[in-house]
Amino acid sequence: MNVRLQALNILMQVVKHNHSLDGAFDKSLQQQQTNNAALDAHTGLLKELCYGVMRWWPTLQAIEQSLLDKPLVAKHQDLSVLIWIGIYQLEYMRTADHAAVSETVACAQAIKKQWAKSLLNAVLRRFQRERGQLIPSLENNLVASTAHPSGLLATLQQAWPNDWRYIVEQNNARAPMSLRVNQRLISRTDYRARLEQAGIFADVVEHIDSALSLKNACPVETLPGFNDGLVSVQDAAAQLAATLLAPQSGQRVIDACAAPGGKTCHLLEQAPDIDLLAIDSKAWRLQRLEENLQRLSLSCHVQVADAIDLESWWDGQPVDRILLDAPCSGSGVIRRHPDIKWLRQEFDIEQLLTTQSELLRALWSTLKPGGVLLYATCSILAAENHQQITRFLAEVDDAEEFPIAVNWGCPMLHGRTILPGENGMDGFYYARLRKKR
Ligand SMILES: C[S@@+](CC[C@H](N)C(=O)[O-])C[C@H]1O[C@@H](n2cnc3c(N)ncnc32)[C@H](O)[C@@H]1O
Repeated sequence: MNVRLQALNILMQVVKHNHSLDGAFDKSLQQQQTNNAALDAHTGLLKELCYGVMRWWPTLQAIEQSLLDKPLVAKHQDLSVLIWIGIYQLEYMRTADHAAVSETVACAQAIKKQWAKSLLNAVLRRFQRERGQLIPSLENNLVASTAHPSGLLATLQQAWPNDWRYIVEQNNARAPMSLRVNQRLISRTDYRARLEQAGIFADVVEHIDSALSLKNACPVETLPGFNDGLVSVQDAAAQLAATLLAPQSGQRVIDACAAPGGKTCHLLEQAPDIDLLAIDSKAWRLQRLEENLQRLSLSCHVQVADAIDLESWWDGQPVDRILLDAPCSGSGVIRRHPDIKWLRQEFDIEQLLTTQSELLRALWSTLKPGGVLLYATCSILAAENHQQITRFLAEVDDAEEFPIAVNWGCPMLHGRTILPGENGMDGFYYARLRKKR
């Protein structure tokens, strides 16, 4: 299949059906591998097109609108996406202009819109001619110049009035590929040397003993010892959870929203003798957790359950430690998942706020006196983070904050927020609570 056509199909899964880009991309690759292994060579270009267009669609859409005499109707959304793919190659990639235009225009035939060939051709050629004036003219259009839809932009401006410009810049940057070294098997220094022998170069990440940040991303299969569990792919900020929770041998621990298991596995690498129950409401995501446990030769109890519904999973025995890595808006990981810009354009997070609060309250009742709960999100929004904790502390009289005394992140009223890009990390929030009695 033409790589641009494949990118169009993937992007339409996001734009029309609200599927996640990671999911649509992986599914398309699986089909491609079974159908035609020769297409593997296109994967890099395919990824660049799909993730690049999702990162810049608000800008690409503004350009499209200024090039068309009248907007395309909804049933021709696929043509809009093709225009974005074409402009993306011309403006953000080094694709030769003639290839960018002719290969993109050729997709019209495959989607049975032969008639649109001349339209696509005219729009892309006009962009080639006029981009020198067109691009500077977008500077006063905040949606186009920041590549953030207006609802999301307003949310970020309100949440971080002094930092929102930095945040949108970071959201448009490419996230580094970060590794978690399995320190039970190898030190970070030794693993870094193994990487270098393989021609893969990495920086150590300050404040996090297990973390390396690759200078250039590479396929996981090329990482030395990946299949033997020496290393996992995990953002550095996510690696702070296991250290902050610090479970001790023999303790009962719940990882309440565990899948796909990055933090579960890290907890077990750090303390293999804990009695850990990993819960998630999505069975298919827990399957990935089981695969990760297997690759790393780790084990724990795994249960598909709604963590809010204690009767469905809790045996009534109080636990020592809880990790609540709550479902959230993902506002801290937009650089890694640029489709969030499309899927959460209005940033309506009411339902998420309710779920986070219900999870916190339900799980609290399973904690022993003196026990510790770590609340985490990959969001940078106060409503999902310290405002949740403030309300909880005001309402629950046996809860107190167990402060996180560190030199990373921004101290909030309760807990700490890491803004995306700090020390190369994803945006994250952590708050630690202790049960008084
Ligand atoms: C941020 S992700 C967890 C990432 C995971 N901790 C890791 O490090 O790989 C949030 C997870 O919460 C799960 N989830 C959402 N609502 C839940 C609920 N009521 N009970 C249990 N899990 C839930 C989602 O399926 C999702 O896998």
